Amino acid sequence: MQRSALAWRRRGARIGFVPTMGYLHAGHISLVKRARRLVGPKGIVVVSIFVNPAQFAPTEDMARYPRDLARDRQLCREAGTDLLFVPHEKEIYPQGFSTHVVEEKLSQSMEGASRPTHFRGVTTVVLKLFNIVLPEVAVFGAKDFQQAAVVRRMVKDLNVPVKIIIAPTVRERDGLAMSSRNKYLEGDLRAQAVVLSQALARAREAVSNGRAVTSAALRSELRALIERQPAARVDYIEFFDPETLEKVEWVGRDSHMAMAVFIGNTRLIDNVSLAGGTK
Ligand code: PAJ
Repeated sequence: MQRSALAWRRRGARIGFVPTMGYLHAGHISLVKRARRLVGPKGIVVVSIFVNPAQFAPTEDMARYPRDLARDRQLCREAGTDLLFVPHEKEIYPQGFSTHVVEEKLSQSMEGASRPTHFRGVTTVVLKLFNIVLPEVAVFGAKDFQQAAVVRRMVKDLNVPVKIIIAPTVRERDGLAMSSRNKYLEGDLRAQAVVLSQALARAREAVSNGRAVTSAALRSELRALIERQPAARVDYIEFFDPETLEKVEWVGRDSHMAMAVFIGNTRLIDNVSLAGGTK
């Protein structure tokens, strides 16, 4: 992979990169199309599929993560991918692997608090993938807002010569953010999961007139709304500054909201800018 990337770059081709864990959906494909637009018709678009063990806790069942390589391959081909990179676990983490990348601030709250080793796994694999694929630009989804912020910070802090682009969250018609994990939502759990996007909409509405509300009041209102669904349990609801990810006590239109909610055993995340707009 790295030899191909070096050869492309020597002849002046631009490389656009979309890292994924596979089981692709329209959200991933929107990133691939964005990468194509960024590098142009003569550029090279690389998609990686790697279910990264370092970002799963031992209690999280990585073996259950959905996979369908044949279908992913087809979707990538249709979206105009030039190269699909699917490394083996032993190539990424050879015996004796002992170096990690740790972002120490933005990764502490929210997903980092609920999943303490998660972001160390993400930053480590993303930097490795950047060093292997050698992209000029990489596209990430706003669906994982904190992940995008942590990756941006890492790239800045470590002088990584990759431009990071964040693309909007792609949603199902009823508002549910697309996710590989939605596959786990069996029976009426799928209908209950709509409550996440309903809670985001309610939060936007609560600050839409320019009034600020306390995070405690808005959080308890949204928690009650969400937990009216019998299978829903809130992990966290946070309101924060979109740049620093610092929690705010007064929530306004300049705030961002993110949450993690269990629907049955499936943990879903979603987020929105409270400034308005739909993404
Ligand atoms: P994965 O969950 O497969 O997501 C790959 C990329 O797709 C991420 O940038 C994610 O934010 C984006 N994405 C997922 N759902 C989306 C949606 N509904 N709309 C828009 N973009 C969406 O995130 C990971 O994999 C991994 O942590 C990874 C970065 C690959 C490192 O292992």
